[in-house]
Amino acid sequence: MGRSESQMDITEISIPKPKAKRWSGLELTLSVLVLLLTIIAVTMIVLYATYDDGICKSADCIKSAARLIGNMDGTVNPCTDFYKYACGGWLKRNVIPETSSRYSNFDILRDELEIVLKDVLQQQKPEDIVAVQKAKTLYRSCLNESAIDSRGGQPLLDLLPQIHEWPVATDNWEATYGSSWRAEKTIAELNSKFGKKVLINFFIGTDDKNSTNHIMHIDQPRLGLPSRDYYECSGVYKEACIAYVNFMISVAKLIRKDRGLSINETQIALEMNRIMALEKEIANATAKPEDRNDPILLYNKMTLGQVQNNFTLMINGKLFNWANYTNEIMSTVNITVANEEAVIVYAPEYLTKLKLILTKYSPRLFMAQHLKQPLGDVVLIMSMESWIMLLDDFM
Ligand SMILES: *[C@@H]1O[C@H](CO)[C@@H](O)[C@H](O)[C@H]1NC(C)=O
Ligand SMILES: *[C@@H]1O[C@H](CO)[C@@H](O)[C@H](O)[C@H]1NC(C)=O
Ligand SMILES: *[C@@H]1O[C@H](CO)[C@@H](O)[C@H](O)[C@H]1NC(C)=O
Ligand SMILES: *[C@@H]1O[C@H](CO)[C@@H](O)[C@H](O)[C@H]1NC(C)=O
Ligand SMILES: *[C@@H]1O[C@H](CO)[C@@H](O)[C@H](O)[C@H]1NC(C)=O
Ligand SMILES: *[C@@H]1O[C@H](CO)[C@@H](O)[C@H](O)[C@H]1NC(C)=O
Ligand SMILES: *[C@@H]1O[C@H](CO)[C@@H](O)[C@H](O)[C@H]1NC(C)=O
Repeated sequence: MGRSESQMDITEISIPKPKAKRWSGLELTLSVLVLLLTIIAVTMIVLYATYDDGICKSADCIKSAARLIGNMDGTVNPCTDFYKYACGGWLKRNVIPETSSRYSNFDILRDELEIVLKDVLQQQKPEDIVAVQKAKTLYRSCLNESAIDSRGGQPLLDLLPQIHEWPVATDNWEATYGSSWRAEKTIAELNSKFGKKVLINFFIGTDDKNSTNHIMHIDQPRLGLPSRDYYECSGVYKEACIAYVNFMISVAKLIRKDRGLSINETQIALEMNRIMALEKEIANATAKPEDRNDPILLYNKMTLGQVQNNFTLMINGKLFNWANYTNEIMSTVNITVANEEAVIVYAPEYLTKLKLILTKYSPRLFMAQHLKQPLGDVVLIMSMESWIMLLDDFM
């Protein structure tokens, strides 16, 4: 350490530097070669890492691929039994659960989702928004079986008068409810209060051609049975149709029993079978799902006044007033709509066919045939939708 700075300087200066050695031609060529090879290697690595060969290698893709392969049966020759080749693995590993009529990947997904939902709905959190609180209240209301049992059918019996009753489940319907019954009000109430779209599916939604705008829509309704095919009531659908009608009959009998009214099974079966006949015609009038894929064809924009002119429905011998019906629904949010208001009609063919069906099912026709009570089948079917809805809620 004792060296002074000047000494160090002298020492370093005094050491002679080795002369820089010239590279031979070979060395130079080799160095350039090594450099080139390094550049090529790096480029290859970069290319390999980023190269997209169209094969998805993410974890989700690999899982999906494994699921697809697992559901196949590679031991089967596709030319002799393609179904077994494509689905044999699935069939080997899955049994349709006793509680289901079918089982698929979507059903598995749904089951898994229900487990998640159960977890979410069971947890009380003070910071929940009102909608979530309501969902949790609804969930809890289904769990208290002792409370449900002790209330029995009473909530249903209390609700029926609010929706103009179910004629088959009461006596003197005509005298008590018949005179004040209006199609516009009843269908509107079922829609706005209970979310049941009977005969007509009316809703407010985004305008397909202007996403900043909300607009009224009129569409064909959903049906009581899962799809329009079921109403063929033959082959695989036969059993479902019979069960559907028998279910209606049983509920009508139960309500009448709870109310201490007499039960004429022949009469109830007669009326329920007529409901089924009407519902079959309604199903037949709806467009098939495969004919509803073109959004341009579905989009029929017109004014409410034009709807009235284009689709004149007669229900129970009275002209159906579309504006009155619409305003009955909109009155629940204090909005009045004029005849100039725009509407998108998704199902003009259905409405045209509905007009003919409803005319056919006038109450007069049936009074002349075999009905003691002069009640319209339309009234029956609306009420039927009501109790299906009520059953959803209470049983
Ligand atoms: C079920 O309902 C009854 C009657 O409303 C109530 O007393 C009881 O606390 C409820 N039980 C549960 C677990 O919420
Ligand atoms: C879309 O709707 C908004 C809101 O009603 C309206 O202001 C706008 O002019 C509409 N745009 C078109 C292209 O019609
Ligand atoms: C039951 O209803 C049927 C059909 O309406 C009727 O013919 C029959 O007389 C009724 N039976 C009784 C006991 O009222
Ligand atoms: C279904 O509707 C078509 C016309 O749309 C009609 O020709 C046919 O008879 C109907 N079928 C039934 C079972 O009502
Ligand atoms: C509805 O009425 C309008 C105008 O009156 C007409 O242009 C349109 O073609 C009609 N649509 C149907 C499906 O009848
Ligand atoms: C619908 O018509 C009925 C009978 O004409 C009337 O009492 C009712 O106020 C009307 N509803 C609306 C919302 O205009
Ligand atoms: C509609 O108006 C009535 C009376 O002014 C009011 O009590 C009600 O809260 C309003 N409803 C809505 C959804 O704004």
